[in-house]
Amino acid sequence: MKAIPYGRQNITEEDIQVVVETLKSDYLTQGPKIAEFEEAFAEYVGSKFAVALANGTAALHLCTLALGVKEGDKVITTPITFAASANCIRYCGGEVIFSDIDPETYLLDIDKVRILLETAPKGTYKGIIPVDFAGRANDLQAFRILADKHDLWIIEDACHAPGGSFEDVGNTIQLCGNGKFADLAIFSFHPVKHIASGEGGMITTNDESLYQKLLQLRTHGIVKNNDLYTNTIELAGGVNEYPGWYMEMQTLGFNYRLTDFQAALGLSQLSRANEGILRRREIALKYFAAFKNAAYIKGQSGIIKGHAYHLYIIEVKDRLGLYNHLRKKNIFAQIHYIPCHLMPYYQEFGWKEGDFPNAENYYKHCLSLPMYPTLTDEEQAYVINDNIS
Ligand SMILES: Cc1ncc(COP(=O)(O)O)c(C=O)c1O
Repeated sequence: MKAIPYGRQNITEEDIQVVVETLKSDYLTQGPKIAEFEEAFAEYVGSKFAVALANGTAALHLCTLALGVKEGDKVITTPITFAASANCIRYCGGEVIFSDIDPETYLLDIDKVRILLETAPKGTYKGIIPVDFAGRANDLQAFRILADKHDLWIIEDACHAPGGSFEDVGNTIQLCGNGKFADLAIFSFHPVKHIASGEGGMITTNDESLYQKLLQLRTHGIVKNNDLYTNTIELAGGVNEYPGWYMEMQTLGFNYRLTDFQAALGLSQLSRANEGILRRREIALKYFAAFKNAAYIKGQSGIIKGHAYHLYIIEVKDRLGLYNHLRKKNIFAQIHYIPCHLMPYYQEFGWKEGDFPNAENYYKHCLSLPMYPTLTDEEQAYVINDNIS
């Protein structure tokens, strides 16, 4: 059996074609494909605005900047996530406050967050970054109610969950990143994600003023709009109007742009995103059925409505034994994640083993099985049988 990774991209001939066409066009960096990708992505998740970026980490950074995180600001997130969900707080000098996960959902436990908020003086915390971990959507309606009570903003890290959703109290389906409850949401187009553009990211929002800020921050803090200039026409070198070349850098921004050929790839991939989720759900169903009665299974992702199944996770007693066994069979399962608070960098801030028993216990047992749309039935059967035997 050839190597079976835990996740991989699916690049079709059509994808290659659109990238080649874009490479032959007049634009390499920001061209028409960026706006097309942004519009199509906003429509896909149901948000008003979308901003394409170089990667998901850049997206997180611009979110914390746009929301005004500054030195010492306390922001709450989960320890079971990729480091970038926490690092974006540090990029702005903020303080990362980890809070434990719910051992059933593997998501940030809202009850623990509530305790944090209710036992601290008002104004202690500035925001929450819930992560739709593994593709399972957070109940953002509940987080919004809590956040409003304590005057907090929400950044939804939806890197694992484009196309994922939860049902609100009125049984309406709420898509991840639709901007209804979170101020901002972010996505990544890294190859193992649902939509691959090489590197790539997106922010979605319904807030126009945040949207305008993000556009400016994406390109060095530069504005090119006669109505917004603060320097005089004379200083700009014009007579009765600003000259054609004029622009102003009004704040400190970055070059976090996506290229046009990456946007073309993302757009092409987006057209197959629903197909991909359906296939992921089929795979999840088979894993669930195969393991539901297995004695060595402590827990698994299960069959959850709206789950986007970026990952299918099982918890087993002998995780290291199973991981090594699978490797010998050319199956490259993976661990998501080593708890962030135990990373040496975060231990320097005082976080330590024992702080989050649910996250730490989860880490001792979790294993992400191969999960991607092009995983064949034969390959999945090989993975399953190998676990059972
Ligand atoms: C939950 C989560 N947040 C943020 C990121 C960062 O995205 P990127 O790798 O595109 O910078 C990732 C990517 O691995 C992720 O899984």
